Amino acid sequence: MTERITFTFNDKEFTCESGQSIAAALIAADNRELRKTRFGNEPRSIFCGIGICFDCVVEIDGVANQRSCLVEAKQGMKVVSAT
Ligand code: FES
Repeated sequence: MTERITFTFNDKEFTCESGQSIAAALIAADNRELRKTRFGNEPRSIFCGIGICFDCVVEIDGVANQRSCLVEAKQGMKVVSAT
């Protein structure tokens, strides 16, 4: 049986199955924008999905520049868009 976990992204609560990456959980919840570009303020989401492009970077529990496509969502994580 798959465990359900809850985490927050930009102070909004999301629930997903254990084992999902943060990016996969957010996309599955129809939250496609993970951050905005520093120059131009353009929205970014998953591009490669395998840790190469860095389009999906977020801050996780206070640690900046984490690739959300590679990090498994854990209960109680606090995720925010990269600035
Ligand atoms: S989507 Fe490319 S590094 Fe995460």
